[in-house]
Amino acid sequence: MSVGRADRSKGIGSSLLAVIIDEAIRRKAPRFLAGASEAHPDALAWAGKRGFREIGRRIESYVELASFDPDRFRARVDDVRGSGIALKTIDEILDGRDGETREGFIRALYDAETPMWEDVPWATPTPHWPYDRFRQMGFESGQMIADVSVVAYDGDTIAGFTMTGKRQSQDGYTWMTGVGRSYRGRGLATAIKVEALSRAKAKGLRALLTTNDEPNKAMREINAKLGYRTLPAHVQLEKPLLH
Ligand SMILES: CC(C)(COP(=O)(O)OP(=O)(O)OC[C@H]1O[C@@H](n2cnc3c(N)ncnc32)[C@H](O)[C@@H]1OP(=O)(O)O)[C@@H](O)C(=O)NCCC(=O)NCCS
Repeated sequence: MSVGRADRSKGIGSSLLAVIIDEAIRRKAPRFLAGASEAHPDALAWAGKRGFREIGRRIESYVELASFDPDRFRARVDDVRGSGIALKTIDEILDGRDGETREGFIRALYDAETPMWEDVPWATPTPHWPYDRFRQMGFESGQMIADVSVVAYDGDTIAGFTMTGKRQSQDGYTWMTGVGRSYRGRGLATAIKVEALSRAKAKGLRALLTTNDEPNKAMREINAKLGYRTLPAHVQLEKPLLH
């Protein structure tokens, strides 16, 4: 919801909010979700006065690839490889596959993502997206950067992965990084991301971006070590609607 600068403090925002809240109550919605940037404390204060409370923060961050030095992390990637984990790009995995074998990989990646998705500390219930949408978005839309998307294999088992999408012409956006529950704490996520960043740099991309939930300390810690810099958080808000 936005009100033009010249027309602020005239009650327009409050009137707009009243209309949509009434409609949400009429539809028996249990609560109203909204959000504002931490960079706009006035907007947060405005929402706070109208019954919205903070339920979470999502933090976008970026790493400029010119300043990313893969050699600093080489030993960590070698350790993971040395433990028997193979790192392959989706481009390499799909090379020579079609029909059923291609479909088999996409299905296996989706199935691997299911428990990882459940472990993302979302502020609001976020069910795993349906297979058809995963497939369409990742593999049919032309938006994935397959040679900057990396899968960690333990034999034939997908132990972890990171998927990168296009972000305008020069940048990439991490859609999802995840590691299987039984493989965590062994440096896999770090190695997968180092591999993706190295390939993004070699490909000439300018930056990689990502968004993490504030409670996701492990993922945020990994990104901080890799040189990601945070942008102002998106503050997630909710207003309970009583019937
Ligand atoms: C986040 C996730 C990908 C990490 O995978 P992983 O393979 O265990 O990660 P790594 O072993 O490479 O590194 C974990 C790092 O986080 C740190 N860490 C873990 N828990 C932490 C915490 N509570 N606070 C601070 N740091 C923490 C560890 O110290 C480790 O750093 P170090 O190796 O330098 O000591 C994995 O937990 C996961 O799949 N979670 C569910 C999906 C998810 O949330 N994905 C990210 C959102 S898109």
